[in-house]
Amino acid sequence: MPPDPWHFPRPEFTEQVLSSLTQGPAQALTLFAPRRTGKTEFLLKDLAPLAGEREHPVIYASFWQTPFSPLGVLLYELETWLARASVGGRVRSAATALAPKLRLSAAPFGVGVEAEVDLSALGGRPPDALLLHLDGLLERVSRRGRPAILLLDEVQELARRPENEALVAALRTSLDRRSDRLRVVFTGSSRKGLGAMFSARSAPFFHFASQIELPVLGDGFVHHLIEAFRAASGRALSPAEMLPAFEGMGRSPFVFRTLLDVLLHDPALPVQAAMEEVRGRIAASLDYSRVWLSLSPLQRATAGVLATDLDRPFSKQFRAAVGERLQESPPSAARIQGALRRLVRLDLADVTANGWMLADPEFAAWVRETGLEAPPGTSEPE
Ligand SMILES: Nc1ncnc2c1ncn2[C@@H]1O[C@H](COP(=O)(O)OP(=O)(O)OP(=O)(O)O)[C@@H](O)[C@H]1O
Ligand SMILES: [Mg+2]
Repeated sequence: MPPDPWHFPRPEFTEQVLSSLTQGPAQALTLFAPRRTGKTEFLLKDLAPLAGEREHPVIYASFWQTPFSPLGVLLYELETWLARASVGGRVRSAATALAPKLRLSAAPFGVGVEAEVDLSALGGRPPDALLLHLDGLLERVSRRGRPAILLLDEVQELARRPENEALVAALRTSLDRRSDRLRVVFTGSSRKGLGAMFSARSAPFFHFASQIELPVLGDGFVHHLIEAFRAASGRALSPAEMLPAFEGMGRSPFVFRTLLDVLLHDPALPVQAAMEEVRGRIAASLDYSRVWLSLSPLQRATAGVLATDLDRPFSKQFRAAVGERLQESPPSAARIQGALRRLVRLDLADVTANGWMLADPEFAAWVRETGLEAPPGTSEPE
């Protein structure tokens, strides 16, 4: 694949991550950052290519919104990798793109014939034979000279269902057995989700992981994209206008790329007007109003206060602010907790070392600007 001209590479950071991954004491790294800040882009367009150049087998698997169970995703990615490696091809595919039937490279139940599994039927607790098969695949990818690197994206999904515990335990055993040959990057946007994995029985899974932070993109990103935009459209955007615009959108690469997209399709549009359109487009594409209307008034008020700078939801001040929005007396900490639980389940809220916040900065901006109250007469699920 030719390199993506819109991609702003992070060579130093990538180098640093790869070397701590392959030479550091930690067998695994965790990379947690808010939604749409460039985690996946970093894994796929920076880390994987560099690791590939250095001849590490690299296997990427994302657990986000796949039609298959996490085990199905892993089996699929590993089998595909091995199949391509054996024909000398390059790796990278989406498990969702192909038919759900997967022909396994070895019969998991014993000797002889090849077996086929229907990935879409792999719900519930995974069969032991398939977990063993997974271990066998991990053995095969990690036997190739340089340590193999697993890039596991959106891993908080693994913590969502108790039936994944067996998979998490099996993965952990597989990793433990091959500490020098198999290295992992766990990525996700939900710290709360990760917390769930820490506190669950699978806690030791992450015990050995050390945490890395994705650096916030700076001016270099904007200059790179101004140049890519000029190459694509012939229009020269002014850094004096674009740098503050990027700053104003909380340095979100996603919002900035959306802005450029709007400008690309409407070359005469002034940047300021394009910004307006971007906000609307994002809200529409991420369907914020539908999400908002699916919340109860208490959940909405709690989210509304989280979008401000209050971040201790059980504090008196926070509860008073929620009460004010609801025009009633401050709710109890237990009621707030109930509301938070739903917001977390919907991936809307998250907790960090600095307190609670809305997980998605764009959603937070939308809530601050528009989502103050539901239109009258809409149904109010509790
Ligand atoms: N280095 C980069 N260069 C150019 N564009 C980028 C870069 N990083 C991120 N982006 C843009 O930002 C968007 C969001 O990035 P990405 O999907 O990698 O974020 P994420 O942190 O994985 O988000 P999520 O939490 O939703 O999975 C990308 O689609 C891309 O348009
Ligand atoms: Mg991602």
